[in-house]
Amino acid sequence: MIRLDQVHVRHRIRGTGFFRHAAVHALTAASLEVRRGEILGLVGESGCGKSTLARMLTGLQRPTEGSVSFRGEDLWNMPRARRRVEFGSSVGVVFQDPSTALNPRMPVGRILRDPLDVHRRGTEAERTARVEELLDLVGLPPHTARSLPGRLSGGQRQRVAIARALALEPQLIVADEPTSALDVSVRAQVLNLLVELRERLDLGMVFISHDIQTVRYLADRLAVLYLGRVVEEGPAARVTAAPAHPYTQALLSATPSLLEKTERIILTGPVPSATNPPSGCPFRTRCWKADEECATVFPAASLGADGGEGDGQGDGEHRWHCVHPENGAEQAPAGGGRARTEVSSAGSTPSPASESGHGPETPETAETPETPENPETETPDTSARSTQ
Ligand SMILES: Nc1ncnc2c1ncn2[C@@H]1O[C@H](COP(=O)(O)OP(=O)(O)OP(=O)(O)O)[C@@H](O)[C@H]1O
Ligand code: SF4
Ligand SMILES: [Mg+2]
Repeated sequence: MIRLDQVHVRHRIRGTGFFRHAAVHALTAASLEVRRGEILGLVGESGCGKSTLARMLTGLQRPTEGSVSFRGEDLWNMPRARRRVEFGSSVGVVFQDPSTALNPRMPVGRILRDPLDVHRRGTEAERTARVEELLDLVGLPPHTARSLPGRLSGGQRQRVAIARALALEPQLIVADEPTSALDVSVRAQVLNLLVELRERLDLGMVFISHDIQTVRYLADRLAVLYLGRVVEEGPAARVTAAPAHPYTQALLSATPSLLEKTERIILTGPVPSATNPPSGCPFRTRCWKADEECATVFPAASLGADGGEGDGQGDGEHRWHCVHPENGAEQAPAGGGRARTEVSSAGSTPSPASESGHGPETPETAETPETPENPETETPDTSARSTQ
């Protein structure tokens, strides 16, 4: 339904020292397909580019380079009006924090009616009926329509945000960490609601999280992102049973499931910066298998078959970018060596990326125009120097 081909997103920021400008490589050569009706789980640590990818999939931002296609047609070559009407009504989005995603001055009924008015859906009476229907769909009583978002609990607000995303009967919902700003007690409710709605309405969903253990049970397919690159992708069961990329292996080991006994992999080495990504494989500064070969070029995709053999002859369902893949056979050293930084992943453990610097480069220095019509268009710097 939506396809990204070799998508790059760079944000220009103010540099330091001699260099007046620098670029944050938020996404690099990302290729990904979202198929109709499936749940695609997108995982990776903080700052790896998950929200940027969500903005690509929802047309909220234009890529610096590469293409986004919707039902086979280039989204950004579509006339603007068609893009708004056809694409805009086919894809709904739910953001992480419902308290900032909803206009605090608009009553809920108005918030839900807004997309119907903008897209001129139905008559006045039909729009009113649709608002009631939407509230019912997400389990909120009709009188919620008169409340301001500030009068609702976090869970109720996220239900309103989900209802708004569903207003135009989309075929796909992109949910960017939809439960991480909520109380633990209501997370499961909101998650269950999304899963139930997906089945009831035959929706496709992109579910974004830093928690691979949550995503693995929800998703049909998984894509793992590291420093702006999709490093592994495939059927969720296959990726989690036999992760090929060491980073996926480390993510899974950081929150062992109750069913499987895995040793926790402690990642060591410097966390690279998105302004100066390492040459070759972006994970090599923390990877226990890194050697010289890993520093030359970003590894080409290996395709798996039979549960993840990197034979290059496979069905293409499971693919990864690593020259020394795990394939479920080799064991990573746990806990030893140069250990300092623990891998970020599930739950509430802080991410090394957020501790060490993807974030700080962004705030006041960001110069990227966020409007879809005004992308940053510099040529990619594929010769970025290593951080080591
Ligand atoms: N407007 C911007 N200007 C400059 N840099 C940005 C901008 N938006 C994002 N970035 C940078 O791009 C990279 C990817 O950011 P993104 O928000 O997509 O990550 P994320 O995986 O969603 O992180 P989190 O899990 O913390 O939400 C980060 O290094 C971030 O600092
Ligand atoms: S390519 Fe090399 S550094 Fe990258 S994940 Fe594979 S083994 Fe590790
Ligand atoms: Mg994000």
